[in-house]
Amino acid sequence: MKLRHWTLVAPFILAVLAIGCMDIDVADPVTNTAFQPVANIDQVMDAIVIPSSDLIFEAIIYSNGELIAAPETLEEWAALEYAALALAESANLLLMPPRLRDTEAWVARSHELTDASMEVLRAARAQDVDELLVTGSVLYTACLNCHEEYILEPVAP
Ligand code: HEC
Repeated sequence: MKLRHWTLVAPFILAVLAIGCMDIDVADPVTNTAFQPVANIDQVMDAIVIPSSDLIFEAIIYSNGELIAAPETLEEWAALEYAALALAESANLLLMPPRLRDTEAWVARSHELTDASMEVLRAARAQDVDELLVTGSVLYTACLNCHEEYILEPVAP
């Protein structure tokens, strides 16, 4: 009875050992099979990049040179921090196969998105309205730079 028991579980143990020995290089995004990408580039834009950047672009409103809206509460500033973090990380999603494009420029443009998002993050953490305005336009430029290179029909970010 005992022997029979072992003959049943042995294949499972071997299978677990085999998976344990599989060569997954977690540091290599191309061979790392732990990733399970589900969205294409367009969907990453729609699901993460556009809503997060809209929050940042619309946080400050000027009308006729007069400031008429800016973040005030802790919650509003925190929401901008989270949006900046989401944007910074979305660039990593763009660098992950199958979304990764085959040129160095794609890597550079994605890093530009992370860097610009980190600048927005610092402005939001400092609760600095002027800096938020400046870094928001740096972010906008990062969107445009990639679109200019990779989208044939220009899209307003
Ligand atoms: C590293 C490159 C890259 C960066 C950076 C980037 N985009 Fe995109 N974006 C693309 C590509 C490529 C497409 C076209 C995807 C497609 O049609 O398959 C796209 C598409 C879009 C679209 C059209 C989506 C639609 O549903 O029609 C919008 C809007 C957009 N991006 C907004 C932004 C904004 C806002 C930012 C900056 C906060 C940004 N993107 C940053 C590469 C980028």
